[in-house]
Amino acid sequence: MSHILVTGGAGFIGANFVLNWLGREEADSIVNVDKLTYAGNLATLASLEGNNRHVFSQTDIGDRAALDQLFVAYKPRAVVHFAAESHVDRSIHGPAEFIQTNIVGTFTLLEAVRAYWGGLGDVARAGFRFLHVSTDEVFGSLGSNDPQFSETTAYAPNSPYSASKAASDHLVRAYHHTYGLPVLTTNCSNNYGPYHFPEKLIPLIIANALGGKTLPIYGDGLNVRDWLYVGDHCAAIREVLARGQVGETYNVGGWNEKTNLDVVHTLCDLLDELRPKAAGSYRDQITFVKDRPGHDKRYAIDARKLERELGWKPAESFESGLRKTVQWYLENQPWVQNVMSGAYRNWVAKQYDA
Ligand code: NAD
Ligand code: TYD
Repeated sequence: MSHILVTGGAGFIGANFVLNWLGREEADSIVNVDKLTYAGNLATLASLEGNNRHVFSQTDIGDRAALDQLFVAYKPRAVVHFAAESHVDRSIHGPAEFIQTNIVGTFTLLEAVRAYWGGLGDVARAGFRFLHVSTDEVFGSLGSNDPQFSETTAYAPNSPYSASKAASDHLVRAYHHTYGLPVLTTNCSNNYGPYHFPEKLIPLIIANALGGKTLPIYGDGLNVRDWLYVGDHCAAIREVLARGQVGETYNVGGWNEKTNLDVVHTLCDLLDELRPKAAGSYRDQITFVKDRPGHDKRYAIDARKLERELGWKPAESFESGLRKTVQWYLENQPWVQNVMSGAYRNWVAKQYDA
């Protein structure tokens, strides 16, 4: 049985990727390597219980010995690397963990992969791939009239999170150029969809709206993000893994530039339709709060290379993807409650009551 090794497969995008992959009856089984930080949630993978194509290992990507054992035991034909500290606001409060996992962890994983790959036979060596999942935030911030980020845009990260991701991208690139490791890198825009941890904008707004709480918008709400439905992102990763050119980077975006205010208004309107309040609109709960320090103004992705070379484009519009997402949250409140009873509470107190 062939395997791929996925890191961070209990987090938001990684878990969607694992569920989609195994749901499609692809040939490979998955070894899912996740430390289970506050963002890792095995409840998301509950439907895989008893599925012998999914092996879960609670492992830190910084633990070289544990990684070596996994490579020897499962001999994966590819690694898809999602594991990271991923929340910008947390990186502002405490950057150390971001340096540790995103930089040192990625380095440790690359070293383990290099040793494993170097010991493979010719055919397996040639077919092996290391796909690194990164972010558009490495490119910095755009002005309102600037062209979107392309694969050749210069790196200019502004937060400890994006700086740590930029460093990991550079390490991955260097392992290709120096050691010939067959790497692929994807830089994607803001994802949304099922199983999104409710500290990020879209699930936080849905949870707060339903809970009768305020809907916090940083600054003037005019910062722009380019929203990508997580299922579309997973499809893009499958394409790049299967047919991407080794050593190349691919931008993945949804062609959905929206201000935060637009996003929150659309969410309120969907909730007004699908779960109306006794009186008034969810929009009445909107509150403007102090801005994030160094808040990037605009992110936007030019995803034409991926469409031109591999034929990928997003299937969901912002409207269809957001409707699906709101419906998912309405139908999966136990998942949300489960998350919110944990460390999430402490985080919300630190971020919004300060
Ligand atoms: P997430 O925070 O939801 O999940 C991260 C997962 O990694 C968690 O399951 C966590 O337990 C695990 N993890 C953290 N540290 C680890 C370690 N040291 N060892 C092993 N596992 C560890 O993140 P996400 O939103 O699913 O993002 C996945 C990847 O995609 C990240 O690399 C992120 O930078 C990138 N990305 C995310 C977005 C987005 O909108 N969410 C956008 C662009 C890029
Ligand atoms: P977020 O989901 O944290 O993603 P990122 O910072 O990686 O883009 O935030 C998306 C946008 O929403 C960003 O401009 C910050 C803003 N935001 C708010 O206005 N209020 C909030 O409570 C949160 C979490 C984010």
